[in-house]
Amino acid sequence: MPTLLVAHHTPSPATQELLEAVLAGARHDAIDGVEVVVRPALTCSEVEVLDADGYVLGTPANIGYMSGALKHLFDRIYYPCLEATGGRPYGLYVHGNQDTGGAVRAVEQITQALGWQPVAAAVTVMGAPERDDLDACTELGGTVAATLAEGL
Ligand SMILES: Cc1cc2nc3c(=O)[nH]c(=O)nc-3n(C[C@H](O)[C@H](O)[C@H](O)COP(=O)(O)O)c2cc1C
Repeated sequence: MPTLLVAHHTPSPATQELLEAVLAGARHDAIDGVEVVVRPALTCSEVEVLDADGYVLGTPANIGYMSGALKHLFDRIYYPCLEATGGRPYGLYVHGNQDTGGAVRAVEQITQALGWQPVAAAVTVMGAPERDDLDACTELGGTVAATLAEGL
């Protein structure tokens, strides 16, 4: 069974709402046969990244960049996962209060170097999440999970 790894840094109620919306999409009844593994970025191991078939990454924007927690995950997995994980699908959501551009660019630069394939545009949410924001996160989780379910 394919595995979707949701690796996230969730430091606040707003970011928790986004995570829950992503998981609702990833675990939707209409998607069969995908195991969803959820890990805070700081606890996620290299082996869990190697063992997964696709990824949803979630982070707040911090000082114009991704969170240190997600960056630390990339620092640990980059070389161990470089050969094995190229081509795998992923999605990204970023929460911020002013400007998420630098965080999105930073994640996209590293995932591109790893050879991971975006299957949806990054979802960016500013401030208190509204219904549309949560729906976009649910769609993101569902899109990556469905990609794995279909073996794409
Ligand atoms: C040290 C620090 C740096 C931050 N830098 C940015 C930033 O560059 N851009 C941005 O949009 N938000 C920034 N934020 C806001 C966080 O992204 C936000 O606090 C986080 O997504 C959680 O959202 P909440 O505080 O509304 O719950 C920063 C927050 C902190 C604590």
